[in-house]
Amino acid sequence: MGFGTHLVHYDVAPDDPNQPNVTPIYQTATFEQDHVDVGGRFEYSRSGNPTRKVLEDHIAALESGTHGFAFASGMAAITCVCRLLSAGDEILADWDLYGGAARLFGRVLDRAGVRLNISDALDLDRFRAAITPATKLVYIESPTNPLLRVLDLRAVAQLAHERGLLVAVDSSAMTPYLQRPLELGVDIVIHSATKYLSGHSDVTAGIVVVKDAELAKRIYFLQNAEGNALAPFECFLLLRGLKTLKLRMDAQQKNAIAVAEYLRTQPAVASVGYPGFGALVTARLGSFERAKQFAEALKLFKIAVSFGSVTSGISLPATMSHASVPPEQMKTREIPRDLLRISVGIEDIDDLLADLAEQLALLG
Ligand SMILES: Cc1ncc(COP(=O)(O)O)c(C=O)c1O
Repeated sequence: MGFGTHLVHYDVAPDDPNQPNVTPIYQTATFEQDHVDVGGRFEYSRSGNPTRKVLEDHIAALESGTHGFAFASGMAAITCVCRLLSAGDEILADWDLYGGAARLFGRVLDRAGVRLNISDALDLDRFRAAITPATKLVYIESPTNPLLRVLDLRAVAQLAHERGLLVAVDSSAMTPYLQRPLELGVDIVIHSATKYLSGHSDVTAGIVVVKDAELAKRIYFLQNAEGNALAPFECFLLLRGLKTLKLRMDAQQKNAIAVAEYLRTQPAVASVGYPGFGALVTARLGSFERAKQFAEALKLFKIAVSFGSVTSGISLPATMSHASVPPEQMKTREIPRDLLRISVGIEDIDDLLADLAEQLALLG
């Protein structure tokens, strides 16, 4: 079965005698049990809910994993993975990270005794040398956020496994349509499903997928113990959005390539970043003031902190998504103040290019 077929063909309502074609929303907190000493298939929606179970199984299969977990946000998903660690353990991460992850590592987990060690995952020898006896988890994004550096997932997984470490990849910018980290040896895939998986900027959600039953047990324990699973209605919205993932990604990627190619021809644009896949493009305009003026003048690219919606968006990471990076981490990383991150949507490309051209002309 091809990926596009798989997106829409799966068991949408296991064991449901009514055979609905769409997964019903099980808007219930509790499920009746026949016995006080034997649980049923579902008991309590924090622990498990039929709508969530369909979503979790579906996304697990799409990622070539065996167990999926849906959370209230991407940050809740990242937090759950980090809870695998204990005080004294260390996370080794690439330096280019989403601002919220940087904040979690540097401002929350540090208080629980979990330390962050930052290195450069593009330089594999340097990254390997940064592993210490305390390192338990290697955490990376690819492409990275906001600089869109593409990391070698297979090589990073291999070097981590040589030392018995777990590897987690935030694959939000790619989705399982464009990248399946578990097939490359990675242990844990994380998504902010708020982005392309849901695709319409109407859900906040997070996903974790693994392919190891023991690891899945530990993640499930944490999901239930901490109580941050995704609510049934959000699961339904995410299931609905997922059906068009391939259509949206194809359209958005095509537009993104055209946007990147256009921007590259423009003398007013100092540099353009596009990793070759997906629908995120970066552009540097030479100064914060020029970047701000351009972003605020655009009509079709809405200023929005997130990415991955069918509507085009633009953000300035230094003052938006990455404003929360703790100052001490800024010593080892750079978030250029003239860097714009463009999330390309499904609009007609001529309209998008005309908007860009019009506002670039105003910059001079
Ligand atoms: C790459 C990446 N990972 C994780 C997150 C966090 O996800 P959420 O906002 O759904 O909590 C974001 C949010 O912007 C992100 O860009």
